[in-house]
Amino acid sequence: MPEPKPKTSISSHRWILGYLMREKAVFLPSLAALFFTAMLSLAFPYFLGKLVGSPSDALKHRIDPQIVLARSNEVVLQLVAVLGLQAFVAFFRVQGFIRSGESALNHLRRDLFAHLVRLPMSYFQEQRSGALSNRVSADLGVVRETLLTTVPQAVRQSVILVGGLIFIFIASWKLSLIMLGSVPVVVLAIAFFGRKVRGFSKAAQDSLAEAGTVIEETVQGIADVKAFTNERFEAARYSRSLDAFFDVTRRGAKNRAAFLAFIIFALFGTISFVAWYGARMLATEQITWENFAYFILFSIFVGASLGSFPEIISQFQQTAGATERLRELLDIPPERADGDSSATLGGAVAFENVSFRYPSRPEALVLEDVSFQVEPGSRVALVGPSGAGKSTTFSLILGFNDPEAGRVLFDGRCASSLALQAIRSQTAIVPQEVLLFGGSIRENIEYGKPGASHAEIEAAAAQANAHEFIASLPEGYDTVVGPRGTKLSGGQRQRIAIARAILADPRVLLLDEATSALDSESERLVNEALERLMRGRTSLVIAHRLSTVRHADHILVFNHGRVVESGTHEELIARDGTYRLLVETQLV
Ligand SMILES: Nc1ncnc2c1ncn2[C@@H]1O[C@H](COP(=O)(O)OP(=O)(O)OP(=O)(O)O)[C@@H](O)[C@H]1O
Ligand SMILES: [Mg+2]
Repeated sequence: MPEPKPKTSISSHRWILGYLMREKAVFLPSLAALFFTAMLSLAFPYFLGKLVGSPSDALKHRIDPQIVLARSNEVVLQLVAVLGLQAFVAFFRVQGFIRSGESALNHLRRDLFAHLVRLPMSYFQEQRSGALSNRVSADLGVVRETLLTTVPQAVRQSVILVGGLIFIFIASWKLSLIMLGSVPVVVLAIAFFGRKVRGFSKAAQDSLAEAGTVIEETVQGIADVKAFTNERFEAARYSRSLDAFFDVTRRGAKNRAAFLAFIIFALFGTISFVAWYGARMLATEQITWENFAYFILFSIFVGASLGSFPEIISQFQQTAGATERLRELLDIPPERADGDSSATLGGAVAFENVSFRYPSRPEALVLEDVSFQVEPGSRVALVGPSGAGKSTTFSLILGFNDPEAGRVLFDGRCASSLALQAIRSQTAIVPQEVLLFGGSIRENIEYGKPGASHAEIEAAAAQANAHEFIASLPEGYDTVVGPRGTKLSGGQRQRIAIARAILADPRVLLLDEATSALDSESERLVNEALERLMRGRTSLVIAHRLSTVRHADHILVFNHGRVVESGTHEELIARDGTYRLLVETQLV
């Protein structure tokens, strides 16, 4: 796999912007509206300053209070009008941002998922289950937060910062310089400390979450906890993780307290200093009341927007990391899509000196020089101890993995010259552990042949000995089975998988016999269904039951990744080798 190119954060942001621009008919007007409302929000301190400051100046100059009052009324009406306009525009721009952002995200989600399901099996084999989907959804969450909240926030705050600074300079450049020399330093220091404090609170959260994991694990495995009388052990484990949490909180508490003390003293101290200086200027008439009011009010706005920047920047940095990971995922090449896609399988399957190791465990040779031939329509049993390489053989037949050496052949043609789709659509697998998809029984059977009619589905179920039990369910074929089919027994799940395979009508059948024993009635139903399924098809069966093996035309005995013996049951028993040992120790 080629190393993904490192990406700069600029290009990652541009990439996301590309998704947003697909919605430019909504996004660009919303962006313009955002600029507009952000500028309008500066009207608030402006009118407020006028309202507070100008009467003082007017009264000082002994203007008729009636006139002053009338002026105030006028100002307040203007303010209300501006607020109304701002609210009106904001109403549409918020909707526009959410619509374009969520729609862009949906495009991204669709692209990611479509790509994800096309990735080679080897990619999934390397991942810890759950880790991949958790990571992708966490990354998407960060991108979402940024698109819907941080971007509008950044635009708004920038406009307020720049506009507000212009206003305070107009109000009094002298006081502005004095303030800019002191307050931003403190605001930035606060923002910096604030992040540290938040860092602690995040650590505290994480450690509390860890304590939560203990509860989760315990409740999940409560049967084991009780069976092993480990209640005390779990309680102690929980108590330990709570202690760890308390430790983190205590350290965090000190920081928090220092932070608050700092704010009280430094920030308000500095503000007092600026106010004191302003009062001096007022007294010496270097500034009017109105300008002083502007100055104070705009400073509050500027200060607040300044304080929001560290958070905005850190959110952007997080987003850069998240988008880089998402792009790396999209850069992984998908499964091959070449080869003859119209090939019809005749049913002959062969391995020719195949060797294989899993990419995640390159040190272990899982299959070593494996050769065998399966005639069309015949039945071959694969037997051997656990870990011998039987399921891996199936993976190679399905093209989930490619051999490191040697060839997999279908009707004498190298598998790599056939399209994966051609191979897989004419091969069906009944796995050892059947996992049903969340959905109805009907949908689960239909999976074998999307678009199959009700009649076909029911006929397949009948052949699989499943129709009876399905029909006896209150909702019949529309019964929804959990994501893991938990509402059905093992034997029932298997019969549904068999019905699915019957419906798929494959040339080649791969059957991984269940190791878990079924009760004898259930086993009879399953075996009968399997018999019908295998009839007339090439079947490779990983067998755990002697009865299955006896009926096979040919047996391959796997051990440590090699085919150590092959032949019929009688031949192999006569040979007194591994197979005979397996049979005698009841491993098959
Ligand atoms: N995804 C994987 N990544 C790395 N190693 C794997 C992977 N899957 C299987 N293996 C290893 O390959 C070897 C063969 O595994 P395989 O599943 O083919 O055994 P098996 O014969 O089917 O065993 P069982 O009868 O227990 O199902 C084992 O040593 C196993 O640990
Ligand atoms: Mg297996």
